[in-house]
Amino acid sequence: MFITFEGIDFCGKSTQVELLKNYFERKGKSVQVIREPGGTEISEKIRDILLDKKNNKMFMETELLLFSASRAQLVREKINPFIKQGEIVISDRFHDSSTAYQGYGRGLPIDSVLNVHKLAIAERIPDITFIIDIPVEVAVKRKSEKTHQELDRIEVSSNDFFEKVRNGYLTLAKNEKRFRVIDGTQSIENIHKLIINYIEELEHL
Ligand code: ADP
Ligand code: TYD
Repeated sequence: MFITFEGIDFCGKSTQVELLKNYFERKGKSVQVIREPGGTEISEKIRDILLDKKNNKMFMETELLLFSASRAQLVREKINPFIKQGEIVISDRFHDSSTAYQGYGRGLPIDSVLNVHKLAIAERIPDITFIIDIPVEVAVKRKSEKTHQELDRIEVSSNDFFEKVRNGYLTLAKNEKRFRVIDGTQSIENIHKLIINYIEELEHL
């Protein structure tokens, strides 16, 4: 099973990824957690370039191709072999992040972004994708607990950008069956319970 988590920054993905990992481990299942961008030696180097606030001259085309390069490596070096071994893979972000951030957020043509995905991930589409949806104001509130220094190049983007990203995710969710949109303003425990319900549903299919 290949499970991905999506949503705007501070939506609570990492919290839920950890809880879901623990859930599978309690059930005695072998599970691998990865994060994007990153997850391999090469991909982590690309991550450093992408998130470095000094790289404020980066063009959106460069950004898309770097995220996709990091992902192409991760898919072939880790995700595909893990899935072949029968492991459950949970990824904190995957290709939908590029569609939402670089496509809907930055404004690159969506069909170009989807064509890049075809090369970068090929057939490796997630079985289920959770979008943890929160209003931008909630994200801003959570972000305010961090210092500017702690924020990366993308996290310092404008609220308007994050509105576009959020709406992009909601548009994506309407077009493909693998998406489950979850109201991320609920308690951490409630969100976790909803996720488990969806996973159990999928296991019984
Ligand atoms: P992400 O990985 O999406 O950036 P995190 O899981 O790191 O998000 O959560 C961002 C912040 O919001 C953290 O301080 C976390 O404790 C808090 N948080 C996560 N989920 C919730 C929730 N359901 N309600 C309130 N705060 C939350
Ligand atoms: P990260 O620190 O992993 O953020 P988060 O904990 O919110 O996932 O940084 C990843 C940042 O890169 C985040 O702001 C989202 C952005 N991003 C894209 O713009 N496009 C992508 O394809 C991916 C994977 C991430």
